[in-house]
Amino acid sequence: MTDLSVLSSLPDDFLWGAATAAYQIEGAVDADGRAPSIWDTFAHTPGRVAGGDTGDTACDHYRRWPEDIALMRRLGLDAYRFSIAWPRVVPRADDRVNQAGLDFYDRLVDALLAAGIRPFPTLYHWDLPQAQQDRGGWPVRETAERFAEYTAVVAARLGDRVTDWATLNEPLCSAWIGHLDGAMAPGLTDLTAAVRASYHLHLGHGLAVQVLRETVRDARIGIVNNLSPIEPATASEADRAAADRADGHVNRWWLDPVLGHGYPEDMREVYGVDLPERDGDPELIGAPLDWLGLNYYFRQIVADDPTGPAPYARQLPGPNPDRTAMPWEVHAPGLEQLLLRLTHEYGVERIHVTENGAAYRDSVSADGTVHDPERTAYLEQHLAACARAVAQGAPLAGYFAWSLLDNFEWAYGYDKRFGLVHVDYPTQRRTVKTSGLRYSDLIAAHRQR
Ligand code: IFM
Repeated sequence: MTDLSVLSSLPDDFLWGAATAAYQIEGAVDADGRAPSIWDTFAHTPGRVAGGDTGDTACDHYRRWPEDIALMRRLGLDAYRFSIAWPRVVPRADDRVNQAGLDFYDRLVDALLAAGIRPFPTLYHWDLPQAQQDRGGWPVRETAERFAEYTAVVAARLGDRVTDWATLNEPLCSAWIGHLDGAMAPGLTDLTAAVRASYHLHLGHGLAVQVLRETVRDARIGIVNNLSPIEPATASEADRAAADRADGHVNRWWLDPVLGHGYPEDMREVYGVDLPERDGDPELIGAPLDWLGLNYYFRQIVADDPTGPAPYARQLPGPNPDRTAMPWEVHAPGLEQLLLRLTHEYGVERIHVTENGAAYRDSVSADGTVHDPERTAYLEQHLAACARAVAQGAPLAGYFAWSLLDNFEWAYGYDKRFGLVHVDYPTQRRTVKTSGLRYSDLIAAHRQR
């Protein structure tokens, strides 16, 4: 049992939210002028996604969003983090804006505001239009420029009502998993392409920040990174050096440039790939932000791996037997540690935990409930970790549970359920899990204190 008295450290105006992403929940991939993204292509390529699952239908949120907003109200959420699908807004190579795609987000934002829920859109959560991939994708500079154009279109339409914006979600996954490990779209295994993709993702972020500042009055802009504390497997010099490289690969490469410190020199050497830098880029990439988004799932324990791929560090299973269905080690202290690192080492002045959550094997019981005590415990442990960090000075402003709904978990398909709300895919029936009810109670208790 987690001692929750520490939750009293969370500020009065703490934002309680939940998060989703377009391709994972929307479905309706052919509706209203949407064109394929790299994830449609990837998921429809045999062998790429478990069970041959695709996002074609997902949670049918594109049509069921009123019901989903009603669920958010029922949970008592203050804020909802979702992503906007670039392939709905500027779907094709002709770069024409698809008003019907924008209309969907316009309606969603209006309905959220009417429900008293603050919209937190993310402009890019991995669904690059296939048309942009065909022009070279993130390894080429033009994609960053097109991303800024798309951002301008979205900001012009929603910027009169939306103030909280995230540019990118987890660019690490787009670059390293999509271009180096090959386990996500576009499925490449090419270090040069991966490093160039990382650079252009950051450039796209910087250009988007500039556009948002110009277009949206009082915009509050952030970027969302998935970070992990790194520990060496042993005290040997080789493992400690591997841990430094893994820290560079997973954390510093993604934090330093966007926080104005440039790319870490040691990692430039590890990759040995020239960055396609131009004058003025570092200032764009490192332009001041209003908040930083932290997605936390696990720590990493690493050993030296001289013959493996960059960064030559192999991840070992963590010692805690408590694991999710992914099967990721449950380690809540890692969240506290990261929040304190962002606060003390990087001097970040406002942080949101933009994702945190766990997959378990949930099912609907005969009485119609979904009883998920492991997720409830996970949630409580991680919220307590947030509160402990706040008590030590972390400027944490909000927490978004991943995820509102069970959804399409990328290469793992629908088998991994992260939702506070269970989705029965054949019927699309939604059932709030006991963890969702618990989250709702914690929110209510925080409001009443
Ligand atoms: O489902 C993903 C999400 O899209 C990005 N962050 C991690 C989640 C769980 O793997």
